[in-house]
Parts: sequence; C-alpha cells; structure tokens
Amino acid sequence: MHGVRVPKRDAEQVRRRLMGDDILLRDYQPIRDGDYVIFPASECPEGFDCVERDFPARRKKPRSLEDALREFLDPEDVQHVTKSFDIIGHVAIIRIPDELWAKRKEIGEAILRVHPNVRTVAAEVGPHQGVFRVQPVEIIAGEPNLVTEYREFGVRLRLEVGKTYFSPRLSYERYRIAKQVRPGEFIAALLAGVGPFPLVIHRFQPNIRVYAVELNPDAYRFLVENIRLNRAEGKIEPILGDVRDVVPARYPHQADRVLMPSPILAEDFLDVALAAAKYSGAIIHTYALGPNDDPFTEKEYELLRFFRDRGWDAKVLNRRVVRSYSPRLDQVSFDVYVKRL
Ligand SMILES: C[S@@+](CC[C@H](N)C(=O)[O-])C[C@H]1O[C@@H](n2cnc3c(N)ncnc32)[C@H](O)[C@@H]1O
Repeated sequence: MHGVRVPKRDAEQVRRRLMGDDILLRDYQPIRDGDYVIFPASECPEGFDCVERDFPARRKKPRSLEDALREFLDPEDVQHVTKSFDIIGHVAIIRIPDELWAKRKEIGEAILRVHPNVRTVAAEVGPHQGVFRVQPVEIIAGEPNLVTEYREFGVRLRLEVGKTYFSPRLSYERYRIAKQVRPGEFIAALLAGVGPFPLVIHRFQPNIRVYAVELNPDAYRFLVENIRLNRAEGKIEPILGDVRDVVPARYPHQADRVLMPSPILAEDFLDVALAAAKYSGAIIHTYALGPNDDPFTEKEYELLRFFRDRGWDAKVLNRRVVRSYSPRLDQVSFDVYVKRL
C-alpha cells in the first residue's frame, strides 16, 4: 500500500492536503516512524517522499449493538444478548448465558462502544437475593462504579446497583399509578426501595403526603437522598424499618392508598397492607407472579379470599400484566379497593 512520509511537524497540513485531493485512505490508520508520520494513500502525489507499507485498518464505530456483536457472536446469540440488558444511568446490566460467559469482556466492550452514555457494564451473576431483593453483579467492562443516577419523568433517582433494588422496566407501572392519585391523599409506600414509586407519584401529584418504609439501610440512605434531590421533603417521610412493626405502631388504618411493589414479597405482607388501609376505604396496589397462559384467575381468587376472610369487602378495580418475569411466569398487578365490613 502507498504511504506518504512527512515530518511530524507538517503532518496536519499534509493530512488536509491528502484529504482535499481525495487520496487519503480513511479506512486505515497512519503510522509513526520516528520523527515522521506515514499516511496511507491511494496514489503517490508528486513532490512527496513515498514508501510502501502495510497500515492497520481502522475499527469502524458500529451503528448498533447488533453490528458490534456480530463481529464475534452467532446471530442467535446476538438476538439473545440485545434483548437481555437494562441501562440504569451510566450502568448497563446484562444477563449473559453460561455458554457466552467466556465472551463477557468482549460483550461489555461492545456495549461501551455503542452506547456513549454507558460507562460501566455489569453482568448478573445470580438471581435477586434475600429480603432486600438485590441483584448480585460483576463488572465486566468500563469504570468500577455502580453508584448511578437514573431519570424517569423528570424524577432523579440515585442508587447503587448490586446493593439496592431498582428496575427501569416498571416505569409505566409507576406512571399508571401516579395518574390515579387524587389531591390530598395519604399514601403508604411499603417496600419502598430507593423511592421510585412515591417520587413519581409526587412528580405528577405534589399535593399528597406519603410515608415510605424500607428495611435495607443502603436503599434507605438513597431514599433519603432522592427525596432531597427531588425536593419532596415534608411530603414523603422516609422510615427505616420493617413494615410489620412500623405500620401498626405509627400509621394504623390511615392510608387512602397502599403500595406493595414486589411480586415476591407482597403476598407475605397482605396483612400489613390491611393494617395500613383506612377502614372507610382504600386502594391497595399489589403484585403477584402467575403462569403466562392465565396469570390472573388463581391469584385474584386468593387475594379476594384473603381480604374477605379478614372482614374486608374487596373488589379488583384493574389488573394487568406488568411484564414477562421468566419464560413461564408473568408479573401481574392488581388494584384492589378494600373497605372494612
Ligand atoms: C422488590 S423491592 C421494591 C423496591 C421499590 N419499591 C422499587 O420498586 O424499586 C422490595 C423492597 O422491599 C424491601 N423490604 C423487604 N422486606 C421489608 C420489610 N419487612 N419492611 C420494609 N421493607 C422491606 C427490600 O429491601 C426492597 O428494597
């Protein structure tokens, strides 16, 4: 391949000249040779020192993650990887199947190349764990920083991936509930995490009062910070503790609306939801997992029976599939109106 050899101090001027003459080969990188730079060129222009060299090809920026992954994965694997990642602020979290685990670093680098706002890529290394529902992760590319800030409907949420629960996939669910809230409501945000549900509600309906209860000290710390960041002090009261102790001791039967945003834990805390609900009537937003051929029927029956057996009238106002949870299970939500009989 032809190369145009110029002293370093003239390199920029000559590069422009070669570009202007349309003979600079832009798909290849120039090379250094002591105090000289050698530019790849399609021909040797008159009056220049020309040499024959091999030049390294430039790596083109892929247009999409698919393009970047296709460089080293099979088409089915590409599909799988592109469907199984979330971006939370500057952190991408990806589920990598066992058979592709050896390629995790390349996958992480591909995500960094394509998503300019992602600075850290973390891979899931197991399911959500324990009562705190935290997702264990391993950083596979980029900066070693899992404290991130996510924005949704103008709400700022800071959190630490791996130490606090958060899912961007519940964004519409938060919006859906926020739009139902009426001015003056008193809301029990149980299992509050870093505060996404109460903060999105507050964004759309600031004329409310909420108490938000969280057991994980890390999540509680971010809850307090997020309330401050979103200027919701005095509207949302953060409480560190177990809902089972806090609700009956501090706010028994006072809430117009009770949030139970966890399909795994909600079932165990339905009695606490009733302890929070006003006797004169309240709406409980609760969640469950059901088989995807019919995710509602059995769960709805159990839910209504639970409330009725404890002396409450109960009626399902809305139910919907929130998201696919696993190949066989859907996460569903129920908005239930309850009133003491
Ligand atoms: C699935 S996460 C939901 C967090 C948040 N609502 C969200 O949507 O991001 C459930 C949360 O409940 C908290 N939690 C679990 N048991 C609790 C309890 N007994 N009292 C208060 N919070 C609890 C966990 O630490 C976790 O942050």
